Amino acid sequence: MRIDIISAAPNLLKSPFNHSIIKRAQQRGIAEIIVHDLREYGLGKYKQIDDTQFGGGAGMILMLEPIVNCIKKLQSERTYDDIIYMTPDAKVLNQSTANSLSLKENILILAGHYKGVDQRIRDKYITKEISIGDYVITGGELAAAVLVDAIVRLIPGAIGDEQSALTDSFQDNLLSPPVYTRPAEFEGMKVPDILLSGNFPKIDDWRIDKAFERTQKIRPDLLKK
Ligand code: ADE
Repeated sequence: MRIDIISAAPNLLKSPFNHSIIKRAQQRGIAEIIVHDLREYGLGKYKQIDDTQFGGGAGMILMLEPIVNCIKKLQSERTYDDIIYMTPDAKVLNQSTANSLSLKENILILAGHYKGVDQRIRDKYITKEISIGDYVITGGELAAAVLVDAIVRLIPGAIGDEQSALTDSFQDNLLSPPVYTRPAEFEGMKVPDILLSGNFPKIDDWRIDKAFERTQKIRPDLLKK
């Protein structure tokens, strides 16, 4: 899978993809993640990429032309299954969206910045808009990093034990059950006996019960889905 990201602050994306599963996926050739600096497509001597908004109002808006020029260049090289705009005024990312995006071949992500992008980009070029939650962060870069991480870890081969992505919280609308490792007892706190029993069918049942219990307590809305 190839993921291109257009960003006005590409340095923000240098580190997130250079660790752990996402780094390994790139080394194994499972995922290719390429960040494009919007400034390189900026207008005029000062490589302008943003401007004040028509009608007045605070904040700068990312201009149409630099983004369109960047998108068109990338589209001349390959076809994108989706062109995604990261923005707080969109549907919130969930596991099911991550699952379906992990099956695509090429996706292009536009990280918004400042007060947003010219609406005409959204109208004509964007095929999907995604928010990472009902709060505002400074730019779309960290949101894009969250999306890319959620997608790439699902691609077969990204995680050694494939079971492990399938048993993540949310894969079945349940939160994960509690987990423990050594020591079996610490400051009087004991690991539940069942986990030490070696009775794996019973352990599976216990985990399902605990997952339901935790979901009921913390996220009862998930059980209604
Ligand atoms: N940009 C700023 N806030 C965001 C959010 N919550 N989701 C996606 N992009 C954003």
